[in-house]
Amino acid sequence: MKKTARAPANIAFVKYWGKSNESLRLPLNSSISMNLSGAYTTTTVEFSSRYSSDNVTLIGEELAESEKQRVVRHIDVIRRKAGIRTPARVMSRNNFPKGTGAAASASGFAALTVAAAVASGLTLTEKELTILARIGSGSACRSVPDGFVLWQAGNTSEDSYAYSLYPESYWDLRDVLVIVERRKKEISSTAGMSNVRSSPFFQSRIDGIAHKIESLKKALEKRDFPTFGSIIEEDCLNMHAVMMTQSPPIFYWSGATLDIVHAVHAWRGEGLPVSFTIDAGPNVHLICEGRNQEEVVRRATLVDGVKDIIVNKPSVGVRIMKEHLF
Ligand code: DP6
Repeated sequence: MKKTARAPANIAFVKYWGKSNESLRLPLNSSISMNLSGAYTTTTVEFSSRYSSDNVTLIGEELAESEKQRVVRHIDVIRRKAGIRTPARVMSRNNFPKGTGAAASASGFAALTVAAAVASGLTLTEKELTILARIGSGSACRSVPDGFVLWQAGNTSEDSYAYSLYPESYWDLRDVLVIVERRKKEISSTAGMSNVRSSPFFQSRIDGIAHKIESLKKALEKRDFPTFGSIIEEDCLNMHAVMMTQSPPIFYWSGATLDIVHAVHAWRGEGLPVSFTIDAGPNVHLICEGRNQEEVVRRATLVDGVKDIIVNKPSVGVRIMKEHLF
């Protein structure tokens, strides 16, 4: 009853910000993302009566009590489904800094869900695994299938699941993740999005999502980078406008974030096809095609305040691994 899974982080092109059901983590809107090759979590779960209680650790980092409890609550969901009560030992490792907006909760809960589900003896389809991962953290459901993924909002738990639109080899996109801040974000996504309805712009963003999802699917189908780039920037800015106009307002950006946004507009003006997107943090994801990666990295390195750059290709989703962490 010991299994290890590895799951990638993902970057959303049309984003999830707001729930219609908090405990089931049903989203207010569908979203589309790409799994990231350079940012992942590996998690080993063992259920054993040798343990007297649950034990949760993250290698190289201190987990807050509330974070451990969130993991244990998710393990409880899986134990109930599997009909077991055995204590669990959970050990995880991230290959990227936590709380940077690099979506540690997506890769973390995707790896945890799959390792724990398999270790508990459950045999679930990919669709069922995405539903279970979603209950741990919404965006985690998008880290289960391969490549480019759509999370259909749905109205019930059973129809709010994620599936692959295209495999990772479909389009040679790059996510040049520009780290401008390493410290943990102050307001978690869960807490931040719980106030989404207080923004006067919230409903108009939601009203425009169905059209955006369809346009983005078409741009992906045609591998039409200019259209694709303009949709992802628009949705990123719409989401951050909602965040900044919630009550209380949330400003995830730092000065360097805005400097990069200005730089991207200037670079595009000079003929370099690149777009940005930003999650619940100050770091910026520069999205471009493979042939432009070198130039995007070269220019990003020259921007003041840039601390690190992580280049990601599209990636597969969750995989079971042979080697365990303990
Ligand atoms: C801004 O999935 O972390 O990254 O479901 O409460 O765990 P919970 O939230 P989470 O939110 C992600 C928000 C986002 C946008 C996105 O990835 O779609």
